[in-house]
Amino acid sequence: MTEIVLPNDTNGLGNLMGGRLLHMMDKCAAISAQRHANCVCVTAAVDSVEFNAPIFQNEIIVAESQVNRVFSSSMEVELNVWAENPRKQTRRKCNRAFFTFVALNNEGRPQQAPPVHPETDKEKARYDHAAKRREMRLLLAGRLPLEEAQHIKADVQAAMATHHGGGEQ
Ligand SMILES: CC(C)(COP(=O)(O)OP(=O)(O)OC[C@H]1O[C@@H](n2cnc3c(N)ncnc32)[C@H](O)[C@@H]1OP(=O)(O)O)[C@@H](O)C(=O)NCCC(=O)NCCS
Repeated sequence: MTEIVLPNDTNGLGNLMGGRLLHMMDKCAAISAQRHANCVCVTAAVDSVEFNAPIFQNEIIVAESQVNRVFSSSMEVELNVWAENPRKQTRRKCNRAFFTFVALNNEGRPQQAPPVHPETDKEKARYDHAAKRREMRLLLAGRLPLEEAQHIKADVQAAMATHHGGGEQ
């Protein structure tokens, strides 16, 4: 999705307001989710939102999203945002976030979404990392007991083994 930053979108500094950008990111992510699942999908969670660089008035926002992985009814959609300055012909990375969307049936209840089949190395990495991030967000949301967080437990054990091994050298 592309959009131009107009005066009404900015704060007192002339920079794009975060809420405006989140609105656009949510819409972009919703399009990815709904094109993938072929049904209505709603935002269940947004995490790891990073506002790394301001976007200025008259710049062009470029938002790109993809479905990283489908779990059952939920899916992780990754959002990346760049700002383009047409006069200077520059493009810089400004934001990233992960949205969780849930596919709904006609009664508004969660339904299974089709799986993602990653092909490239980048897609495979995104697919693998999505499972860890899901565990973390479900843990923080109080929807997953720590004992069942397999990826997190494995990472902690690996880190402890490395630390322990390093200490013996
Ligand atoms: C999202 C929603 C449909 C989930 O309903 P629910 O009764 O909790 O359904 P379930 O417990 O069956 O969960 C459904 C899926 O959502 C996921 N989910 C629910 N809350 C989540 C959260 N906070 N973070 C990540 N995933 C979440 C579950 O893990 C489950 O995923 P899975 O099917 O892939 O395993 C419901 O909470 C809702 O309608 N929320 C409002 C959505 C909305 O209006 N969005 C716009 C906000 S302005």
